[in-house]
Order: sequence, then structure tokens, then C-alpha cells
Amino acid sequence: MASVILGILLVLVPLPLSAEAQIRGNLTLGSLLTANDQNSSWLSPLGEFAFGFRRMGTGAHLLAIWFEKIEDKTIVWSANGDNLAPEGSKVQLTANGGLVLTDPRERAVVFWPERQWLSQLDLGANVKARYSEMNYSTGRFLFALQTDGNLVLYATPTPLVVSDAYWATNTITAGRMGFRLIFNQSGQVYVTDRNGTILNTITAELVPTSGYYQRAILEYDGVFRQYIHPKTANSSSGRLIGWSRVSAPVPQNLCTSIAQQIGSGACGFNSYCTLGDDLRPRCQCPPGYTLLDSTNKMNGCIQAFAPQNCNGSRRETDQFDLLEMPNTNWPESDYERSVAQTEDWCREACLADCFCAVAIFGDGICWKKKIPLSNGRKDSSEAGTKALIKVRIHNRTSKSL
Ligand SMILES: *[C@@H]1O[C@H](CO)[C@@H](O)[C@H](O)[C@H]1NC(C)=O
Ligand SMILES: *[C@@H]1O[C@H](CO)[C@@H](O)[C@H](O)[C@H]1NC(C)=O
Ligand SMILES: *[C@@H]1O[C@H](CO)[C@@H](O)[C@H](O)[C@H]1NC(C)=O
Ligand SMILES: *[C@@H]1O[C@H](CO)[C@@H](O)[C@H](O)[C@H]1NC(C)=O
Ligand SMILES: *[C@@H]1O[C@H](CO)[C@@H](O)[C@H](O)[C@H]1NC(C)=O
Ligand SMILES: *[C@@H]1O[C@H](CO)[C@@H](O)[C@H](O)[C@H]1NC(C)=O
Ligand SMILES: *[C@@H]1O[C@H](CO)[C@@H](O)[C@H](O)[C@H]1NC(C)=O
Repeated sequence: MASVILGILLVLVPLPLSAEAQIRGNLTLGSLLTANDQNSSWLSPLGEFAFGFRRMGTGAHLLAIWFEKIEDKTIVWSANGDNLAPEGSKVQLTANGGLVLTDPRERAVVFWPERQWLSQLDLGANVKARYSEMNYSTGRFLFALQTDGNLVLYATPTPLVVSDAYWATNTITAGRMGFRLIFNQSGQVYVTDRNGTILNTITAELVPTSGYYQRAILEYDGVFRQYIHPKTANSSSGRLIGWSRVSAPVPQNLCTSIAQQIGSGACGFNSYCTLGDDLRPRCQCPPGYTLLDSTNKMNGCIQAFAPQNCNGSRRETDQFDLLEMPNTNWPESDYERSVAQTEDWCREACLADCFCAVAIFGDGICWKKKIPLSNGRKDSSEAGTKALIKVRIHNRTSKSL
């Protein structure tokens, strides 16, 4: 008889649920699950969590833990998003209570010797958000409790210097250093020092303790959110109740939180971010641009027209126009700045310059921006700033896309 407690956390669930998530029971040395058409899984003692293979496509299985009793079977942990297991793969209990995942040719693929809890994150641990809503590959955003005690959010790939963090608790004072991130039973998420003293509260909202499942997650869009879900569907109300968000998202406005010179910002290159009424960041392409990957708005945009000719004798200035976008900026992409100018001057300067993709004008200052545009946002904090997007007027010489 052995009990298994799994690591590599993706989502936090509070203390009692995480104890429940341990897959205990009749698992004996050598117990195994096989990835096949049946969704094979082991259940937790109360049957609220399952551990096993989830089919992600033909012959591709994700080894995961999920909420078993709710309709969408939300995944709280997954192991092999970057390397889905083919049909016939096996996961097996090892002598030391760990697990080993083997491919159909019996080669070990992943191995977990460690035991961890789903409700806390210890010093030095980090968690990567997944790639997109439905894709469990490693994404761009990272949540880490650094060895200096600081709990930080980073957009990667970047050099991980603290100034690049887009959110941090700054719990780095000697004697009061962050040591552990806890998600407790009442739904609070906080950082404590080594002695258990709370240093920083991340979500303070009191949430219903009974009758609801809870989870907190760094989502694929780079925002940390907390959710609750009723344990039993309420048939009398007649409508399906899913996960609903509790407390404020962290950070509150991702569009304006990231300020790195390296990297694309909240959205991909050449796109811009707006905060929806639901406080979710949305990525969009400026006029004249299209999505690089039509299935993922976060992957950035490309110009949907042939770029301006830079050959001195044929500049095509007359074939380009500037489209206005109010309250919009790409603050990390400038290569030229001119003060005490008029908007007309700014327009002409950009049109005449084949390197100028966008001009930003505000308060008498004209900035020229180059491709790839980064950290784009359309936000009330940019009031008084107008973006002038350069686009080709006619399709005569444009590439077919
Ligand atoms: C353990 O084994 C018993 C007897 O085979 C079975 O009734 C029970 O459902 C098993 N429990 C689990 C958690 O699989
Ligand atoms: C396996 O799980 C998927 C959803 O995760 C579900 O659509 C499918 O019906 C399940 N298959 C079986 C055989 O239970
Ligand atoms: C998830 O996204 C990655 C990166 O674009 C891609 O390589 C991978 O094939 C995707 N996985 C699935 C299951 O679609
Ligand atoms: C969770 O933490 C909050 C904030 O410290 C505290 O008020 C509450 O009593 C804690 N709940 C439990 C069940 O420990
Ligand atoms: C933490 O506990 C240790 C040992 O009990 C004590 O020496 C130290 O002063 C405590 N630190 C704080 C910040 O309370
Ligand atoms: C279900 O509906 C009843 C009656 O409207 C209500 O009292 C109860 O709190 C609801 N339960 C949940 C879990 O929402
Ligand atoms: C630049 O334009 C001149 C005159 O039209 C032409 O002869 C030359 O080949 C062009 N150079 C390039 C690199 O296109």
C-alpha cells in the first residue's frame, strides 16, 4: 500500500482540498494506468479529484489531476504538456512512492521522486502558466517565489532581473523575507516568513468555505486569478453554474503592468492590449496588420502590406497613409524623438521615413516607432497620446497574404 502526493504545481487549491487531492487507496507497488481510449484514472478518497490520462487529441494524452465531480473536469495539475504521451504510454507507482511515465516502448519519459502539496509554494519554486486556454505546453508567463524571498511574476523569455518583474511582493527585507506562499481554507492567498508571519496578502477576499471548490492560477494571459465553483449543480435554478472569479485579478491591469525593453509585453509583437470590462487583457492587431497565428491572438501581428521601399530614388511616400488610434502607445519601440513639433510635422516625418511604422504624437512631442512594435496598449493612462499607424493605401504592390 502506498500513497502518492504529486508535485509540479500548476494551480493552487486550498489546504483541505489539497489533502483530498492525494491519491491514496489501494495503490500497490507497480499499480499502473495506461493511456488509451478509456480515460484511465485513480480517484482520491472522497472521489473529488482524479489522477490519470486525459485525451488531448488523437493518440495524445496529458497526465493530469482534475476536479472529477464537476462537468468540465477542470485540470489543476499537469505533467507533460510539452510532451504529450502517445497511446499505450503508462504511469506506474515506484518503490519510493514516486511515479514514472513510460512511453509505449517502455522508455522512461518523466519521473517524480518528490512529494509536494497543492496549496503552497516554497522558496525557490516556480510555476509556468500554460500556453493557451486549451494547450498545456509551457507558456510565456512565470510565477516564482525567488530565493531572495520575493514573489514575482515575469514574462519570459527575458533575462530574469528583478526590474523586469511585472508584479512583485518585494518581501525581501532581512529578517522578514518571504518563505512560503499559502492558499488557506478561507480562500486567502498570502506570503509568510519562515515563522509563519503573514508578510503580504495577495487575495484577501473571504470566499464561501463549504459547498464550493476553489482554485487560484496564473493563467495563460499572465494574470493570477482566483475562482470558486459550487460543488453541486443547482438543478432548481435551471442554469449551469461554472467557475466564477473572486477577488481582484493580479495585476489589475496587465496591459500597463509590463515595462520591459526586451520582449513583446502583455501581447505579442505588433499588437496592442486593451483591458475588457471583465478585467481580462485582450490582444488586437492595429489597422493594416493581421494575426500571425489566427488560432492565438497572443502570438502577435504582422503587416498585411508590403513594407515601404527604402531605396532613395523611389520612396513611395504617396502610397502610404496614417490611421489614427487615440490613447494608444508602444512605449518601448521608439528610435527617434522630436520635441516642440506639430502633428502635421510628425505625420510628414513618419511618411517620409521608410523605417517609421508608427508615429506617436502627444504634447508637442513626436516619437517614431520601429518594427517589431512592443508593449502596445490602448488605455486611459495614454490619454492625450495619439498613435498614427502607417499603412499602404493601394494594394498594387502588396504581397498576397
Ligand atoms: C479498494 O479495494 C476495494 C476492494 O477491492 C474496493 O472496494 C475499493 O473501491 C478500492 N478503493 C479504491 C479507492 O480504489
Ligand atoms: C474521456 O474524457 C473526455 C473529456 O475529458 C470525454 O469527452 C470522453 O467522453 C471520455 N471518454 C470516455 C471513454 O470516458
Ligand atoms: C501547443 O502549442 C505549442 C506551441 O505553439 C505547439 O508546439 C503544440 O503543438 C501545441 N500543442 C497542442 C496539443 O496543440
Ligand atoms: C486564512 O488566512 C486569513 C488571513 O490571515 C485568516 O483571517 C483566516 O482565519 C485563515 N483561515 C484559515 C482557515 O486558516
Ligand atoms: C522566528 O523564529 C525564530 C526562532 O523561534 C526567532 O529567533 C526569530 O526572531 C523569529 N523571527 C521573527 C521575524 O519573528
Ligand atoms: C441552490 O438553490 C437553493 C434554492 O434557490 C439555494 O438555497 C442554495 O444555496 C443553492 N445552492 C448552491 C450551491 O448554489
Ligand atoms: C534603387 O532604385 C534605382 C532606381 O530606380 C534602381 O536602379 C536600383 O536597382 C534600386 N536598388 C534597389 C536595391 O532596389
